[in-house]
Amino acid sequence: MDTILGQVEDQIVNCFKKGGGVPYSSYKRFHEVMEEESAQTVLSGLFDWIIPLVPRLEEKLKEGINVLDVGCDNGRAINMMANQFPRSKFTGYDISEEAITKAELQAKTHDNKNVKFEVKDISKFLNSSKDLSFDLITAFDAILIKLILQQL
Ligand SMILES: C[S@@+](CC[C@H](N)C(=O)[O-])C[C@H]1O[C@@H](n2cnc3c(N)ncnc32)[C@H](O)[C@@H]1O
Repeated sequence: MDTILGQVEDQIVNCFKKGGGVPYSSYKRFHEVMEEESAQTVLSGLFDWIIPLVPRLEEKLKEGINVLDVGCDNGRAINMMANQFPRSKFTGYDISEEAITKAELQAKTHDNKNVKFEVKDISKFLNSSKDLSFDLITAFDAILIKLILQQL
């Protein structure tokens, strides 16, 4: 992650002076590196300690619920869950087209028919998805400040 940040250092410093932000697309290999990090944090603990944090969640997932993962990146976590819980339905949203393409490819490889992915900017979620409803929404390592503030 350090070398990735080094490549955009000047742009970041400029943002501190003039405001604005640096888009994900400027961080080369971001999704590849994110996947490596996530394997050691989210994925390694997903079934053993993350899901058990919520009482009866594993049971509900086994019975079949409707799950959304926002900022799903390459879809590793959601594809793992789709595989483990075939009665539940999973949707993954990410703003990155590159990430969603990989997520869809992985779902095909694992023959996961209970998962779908969509390129979507979650900051526009409430305006564009009024008729959608989910039993569980996960956001692993994704801070969605605008969504949270809109709900308050
Ligand atoms: C730090 S990564 C975490 C990825 C994944 N959840 C994980 O745990 O490995 C944050 C992800 O959120 C996505 N993201 C950022 N802003 C977003 C937005 N407004 N709408 C949807 N996805 C967004 C990024 O493309 C990136 O894949």
